[in-house]
Amino acid sequence: MILSIISAIANNNEIGRKNELLWDLPIDMKHFKETTSGHTVIMGQKTFESLGTTDGVLGRPLPNRRNIVITLDKEFKRNDCEVVYSIDELESRLKETMEDDEEAFIIGGGQIYKLFIDKADRLYITHVDAEFPNADTFFPTIDMDKWKVVKEDKHEKDEKNIYNVNFVTYERK
Ligand SMILES: NC(=O)c1ccc[n+]([C@@H]2O[C@H](COP(=O)([O-])OP(=O)(O)OC[C@H]3O[C@@H](n4cnc5c(N)ncnc54)[C@H](OP(=O)(O)O)[C@@H]3O)[C@@H](O)[C@H]2O)c1
Repeated sequence: MILSIISAIANNNEIGRKNELLWDLPIDMKHFKETTSGHTVIMGQKTFESLGTTDGVLGRPLPNRRNIVITLDKEFKRNDCEVVYSIDELESRLKETMEDDEEAFIIGGGQIYKLFIDKADRLYITHVDAEFPNADTFFPTIDMDKWKVVKEDKHEKDEKNIYNVNFVTYERK
């Protein structure tokens, strides 16, 4: 299995505030959807809650993807996605169910990125060229001694996307 991280990060590694994203960038939403659709996505309980509600209850699985939510709360149960209660449980679940050439995506948020950045094989980072002093959630530092850039795709801001973005793929050295 290939374990990838996908995230959109601003110039100071900002990724969120008050359990929401810091921007509305349709170009990045499209990139996220195209990259992760048909694959497995893994997220922390807070990010799952940030995706919306299902029948009035917080939390919404992403369509057309196998969704796995990680929580420490043993009482947390869902019948519309998979739930795991530890990193060990996640790792054994993935080992049992994923083929060697299949890619799984850690989609956030801050706590979960931190737990997995040293385990991931690849990072898909949307660098958002902006600063958000009010941010309360951050991506961990990308240590360039450990990662190399294998792809870059820069887009200038436009009417719909108010910040310049750079889609960068990193692979572990
Ligand atoms: N810019 C981006 O690309 C991006 C992507 C995703 C999210 N975000 C943003 O990030 C923010 C959310 O991130 P966050 O750091 O607050 O939360 P998070 O990483 O989404 O989820 C944290 C939760 O994960 C569970 N967890 C943490 N450590 C665990 C462990 N060792 N084992 C099992 N479960 C564990 C806990 O759930 P329980 O509390 O249920 O135990 C914890 O509350 C939001 O603002 C969101 O919009 C940004």
